[in-house]
Amino acid sequence: YKRVTVKSLVDMKQKGEKISMLTAYDYTMAKIVDSAGVDVILVGDSASNVMAGHETTVPITLDQMIYHAGSVIRAAERSLVVVDLPFGSYQSDPKEALRSAIRIMKESGAHSVKLEGGKEVKDSIKRILNAGIPVMGHLGLTPQSIYKFGTYTVRAKEEEEAIKLKSDAKLLEKLGCFAIVLEKVPAKLAQEVAESLTIPVIGIGAGAGVDGQVLVTHDMIGMTHEFNPRFLRRYLNLYDDMTGAFKSYIKDVKSVDFPNDKEQY
Ligand code: KIV
Ligand code: NA
Repeated sequence: YKRVTVKSLVDMKQKGEKISMLTAYDYTMAKIVDSAGVDVILVGDSASNVMAGHETTVPITLDQMIYHAGSVIRAAERSLVVVDLPFGSYQSDPKEALRSAIRIMKESGAHSVKLEGGKEVKDSIKRILNAGIPVMGHLGLTPQSIYKFGTYTVRAKEEEEAIKLKSDAKLLEKLGCFAIVLEKVPAKLAQEVAESLTIPVIGIGAGAGVDGQVLVTHDMIGMTHEFNPRFLRRYLNLYDDMTGAFKSYIKDVKSVDFPNDKEQY
């Protein structure tokens, strides 16, 4: 396997090959996702919801993200690994942003970082890029700002927000970001943004006119089952399958069906 790099993603866009991205937060899942051949593994701060059970991505810490990232890095042989800078680790000043990004790179061995926002975080992005750390942008629905918006509904439906999004996307490309995640925006706008940039735009709830797709793995394999946005395609219903397996195990233990003669020493 040849390792996917930030450069290969830009090449893929040029060739018109769509980019596949999935999340992982631990070694075992990352191993499966990587062997399946996904291009990019995102150690998302969605770990705050999926792994830790928080209601938002706000509480997860830099130390916790580094722990998840290290586990994923030990599994990833082919995929490019991108790690989210968590809320509070890059917004206050560019020096702190760089310090946080350096900690992720050194302590986990990750290949790149992702952070949310456009113009507001311009100086932080510059600083991190100047240190040689590849940065992925994230525009549209930015869950770390949930308390500012109050809802997780579709973003940039109004002209004013769409104009800001387009100029932020241009800015991220100009600064030197290697790709942008576009979350939950109208498909037409997302396509327009993707066509206006040379760097790849990876969508989630952003339609088919972008350069790649990302989903939260636990959602797409149906381990979670209460989160049902329109954009989510479920490839498995693991919540039901796992519940069935656990129930069978409990029954077998109670009835002393397990372990049988061959399952002991
Ligand atoms: O944290 C995450 O999983 C993400 C993706 C949804 C893009 O940022
Ligand atoms: Na995220």
